[in-house]
Amino acid sequence: MPNGPATSGDHVRRLADGNQIPRLGLGVWQVPDGPGCENAVRWALELGYRHIDTAQAYGNEASVGRALRDSGVPREQVFLTTKFYPGRRDPQAEVEQSLRRLGVDQVDLYIVHWPQNGPTWAWPGLERARELGYARSIGISNFSASQLEQVIAIADSPPVINQVQFSPFEYRRRLLEECEGRGVALEAYSPLGTGRHLRNQTVAGIAQRASRTPAQVLLRWCLQRDTVVIPKSTHRERIEENAQIFDFSLSDEDLASLDQLDRTGGTAAARESKWW
Ligand code: A2P
Repeated sequence: MPNGPATSGDHVRRLADGNQIPRLGLGVWQVPDGPGCENAVRWALELGYRHIDTAQAYGNEASVGRALRDSGVPREQVFLTTKFYPGRRDPQAEVEQSLRRLGVDQVDLYIVHWPQNGPTWAWPGLERARELGYARSIGISNFSASQLEQVIAIADSPPVINQVQFSPFEYRRRLLEECEGRGVALEAYSPLGTGRHLRNQTVAGIAQRASRTPAQVLLRWCLQRDTVVIPKSTHRERIEENAQIFDFSLSDEDLASLDQLDRTGGTAAARESKWW
């Protein structure tokens, strides 16, 4: 598909471990296990997405796996992420359960979902999961720059991704810089502010001038800020709309206006509040 996501050129990013990740993925946070999740994942794959992001804590890995099989898209063409739920103790045992639920031999990316009980204790288990071939790449999520540094200090195999809440309104500029400086790709979750940012006037004005939608503007900003982005939707037309972001560019002026929406002060932190 010419304008949608694909698996080469601009559409992928090479990670520090040599593996490649599609810059756009479908996120399925808050999508209940069952037909809604299966449809969303199957539609995304039909529409050309080759990257799906789930987690043990979402409770929908079985649906993701079923949709992947039903889609007929070969397993090796899809980048599949799951996340270690840090309320549990053993990342290796938990990824074995994830693989069983997903119905696959390996995930492409396994990440620590949040730094509960400290940033470093789970990391050796993630490394073990990679050595055993359960995950091709390993990373973290919701880690600040200093927590990332602590992981790197004890790692044999450092994280290649930090997945955090990121959008023009949460433009964590210092965190992005610290990640890039350490060879860690930043992955943006909630790029639409779980829908809230779509109503912003600045975003709407830029969208109107560009003959695009607010969602496309927010997602394109993420691409132009060098992040990997995983919008969530359970509607086929929105999943399609969210993929049409590789055939236009925001001007420097529009990027600068969007940058000014930041409410984090360009923080190096990953969260303003914690749920753990
Ligand atoms: P729905 O799943 O009902 O389509 P985020 O990715 O920041 O978490 O945002 C997800 C939220 O934004 C969901 O509520 C989703 O609704 C909504 N959403 C996703 N894509 C679009 C779009 N293109 N237009 C309008 N709303 C969207």
